[in-house]
Amino acid sequence: MHKHKALVTGGSRGIGAEIAIALRCGGVEVITPSRSELDLLDPVSIDRYIEAHHDDGIDILVNNAGINPIAALEAVSAEDWARTLQVNLTAPFRLIQGFSPGMKSAGWGRVVNVSSIWAVASKGGRASYSSAKSGLIGLTRTTALELAPHGVLVNAVCPGYVETELTRANNTPEQLAAIRGTIPVGRLAQPEEIARFVAFLCSTDNTYLVGQALVIDGGFTCQ
Ligand SMILES: NC(=O)c1ccc[n+]([C@@H]2O[C@H](COP(=O)([O-])OP(=O)(O)OC[C@H]3O[C@@H](n4cnc5c(N)ncnc54)[C@H](OP(=O)(O)O)[C@@H]3O)[C@@H](O)[C@H]2O)c1
Repeated sequence: MHKHKALVTGGSRGIGAEIAIALRCGGVEVITPSRSELDLLDPVSIDRYIEAHHDDGIDILVNNAGINPIAALEAVSAEDWARTLQVNLTAPFRLIQGFSPGMKSAGWGRVVNVSSIWAVASKGGRASYSSAKSGLIGLTRTTALELAPHGVLVNAVCPGYVETELTRANNTPEQLAAIRGTIPVGRLAQPEEIARFVAFLCSTDNTYLVGQALVIDGGFTCQ
């Protein structure tokens, strides 16, 4: 049986590490390059990675890595704005551009972009993050339209609050306790709950979900 091969960015920890586990459980070969192999902040590193691996048979791409530097509008530096757009939006664009030709040739592929609820809603201090994650949904729709005729299905997921280092770094324990009270299911998501959903979108079981930005947030944004 054909073994699918996935490239998962940001696989060292958090949601990305759980996505790698979930895909491996489904029989997929998973590559999770370290930052020294693929630094999404560095366009040259991205180009080199694509050049070296575009013929490796990668037919699943999960653009999971992301950064979220929080700052009030007047304090957003040009550097933080550029870094956030580079890692969260430009890097996924380049990786889709680099790896989709191989998927098209194979006639099968899956791409999942990890966006955020702060793309469908927002919160103070997230100007660069919300902009980048909203852009990622636009990228998801356009690439979905271009690639679907070739058997390559592109979708985005928009997680709510997930128990990861990123969330702990951006919220004090008191803030996290308050946040729990605002989530209808009464708790944050575990990374594996997001990962299971991503693994489904990457699988042969997903045959008709295309170009969607699927919110998975315990009911937070339906209030
Ligand atoms: N946590 C949440 O509540 C939440 C909610 C909605 C959406 N998300 C999104 O979900 C994704 C994963 O979040 P997380 O909470 O699991 O994050 P995390 O625990 O902070 O992990 C971030 C991952 O991204 C990688 N990364 C960061 N900058 C990179 C770069 N320049 N080049 C290569 N890799 C880089 C990190 O690699 P290193 O180990 O090298 O640092 C790490 O593997 C992100 O896109 C985030 O925006 C998270």
